[in-house]
Amino acid sequence: MSDPAWILGIESSCDETSIALVRNGHEIRSNLISSQVDLHARYGGVVPEVASRRHIEVISPLVAEAMAQAQLGWEDLAAVATTRGPGLAGALLVGMMAAKAISWARGIPLIGVNHLAAHIWANKVADPQLEPPFLCLLVSGGHTSLVIVRGPDDMLEIGRTRDDAAGEAYDKIGRLLDLGYPGGPVIDRLAPGGDPRAFDFPRGLAGPGHPADSADAFDFSFSGLKTAVRRVVERHRLSGIPFRVEDVAASFQAAVVDVLAQKTVAAARAHGLEVVAIAGGVAANRGLRSRLERECAASGWRFSCPPFELCTDNAAMIAGLGYELWARGQRDSLDMAATSRWPVGTAPPSP
Ligand code: KG4
Ligand code: ZN
Repeated sequence: MSDPAWILGIESSCDETSIALVRNGHEIRSNLISSQVDLHARYGGVVPEVASRRHIEVISPLVAEAMAQAQLGWEDLAAVATTRGPGLAGALLVGMMAAKAISWARGIPLIGVNHLAAHIWANKVADPQLEPPFLCLLVSGGHTSLVIVRGPDDMLEIGRTRDDAAGEAYDKIGRLLDLGYPGGPVIDRLAPGGDPRAFDFPRGLAGPGHPADSADAFDFSFSGLKTAVRRVVERHRLSGIPFRVEDVAASFQAAVVDVLAQKTVAAARAHGLEVVAIAGGVAANRGLRSRLERECAASGWRFSCPPFELCTDNAAMIAGLGYELWARGQRDSLDMAATSRWPVGTAPPSP
């Protein structure tokens, strides 16, 4: 491994602008996050143009603030790492341009980072003792996958969602229940106060009909669940039958967590992996964390989950993975383009 090094991390792929300073891939000196949640809440989701404009407004002051908080000068930086994709094209562009400007002006390397790989690597940022290989369940607003992690630049996706991502399902049900945006954290808060057996919602692509050696063993589907919840809620509303929002939240969360946990455990077993990690915004879910923690303990496996602030979008994970890629010699050119679609574990398009 190379000399101790400070990496400036930049994240702007969706609705948070974040700047971090991280040494050696795990020592976080600052990790500032400027959230746009309030700005998008009234639209019930992220409006791309609004997101880009807000990134432009906040990014430069945020860089200055992060540098000041970390008490670092430009000469202390070994490299600047930025999210290259996947994400909203216009939003990504803002962070990319800031990173390029810093790289060019200060003459330091530019490192383009995959946002999904960085979510996964947040586990290693939080816990330097964690050693690959491990299995990671990646559950965010846009993605749901099972990934075998062999190293920072060696990841293999073995399962993915065929329709909605888990976080997307949470947000859609949140909207249906008038809980505001994003729905995930609110449903997670309401669920413990409800009965998870009040409604029997479907577990997509799970159960005995989908054994570990079947083609869809590690794939996910949440659109059937979403439709089932909508039907139940609309039926109750139309016929004036009262229902408890907490019961819907608990039953929905039970269905999501059941599928995610079942498939993760089956994949770890099938691939002989005894270390299981979770990553992405939905990894902040208390129900999912405690269920997987319990299941891993029962199998004698190690379970890793990043602290809450490293689960949702942040730049510390970008700087953390950026450090590893920098140490392995990755250098990107100022011609590097943002890439809105970039499956985890695949090479980015050139340049
Ligand atoms: O990773 P992330 O911050 O952004 C993306 O890259 O997508 O994930 C955001 C997603 C949203 O869908 C949000 O509802 C969900 O993560 N989320 C949660 C929780 N906290 C955030 N879902 C369930 N339970 C939570 N506690
Ligand atoms: Zn994310």
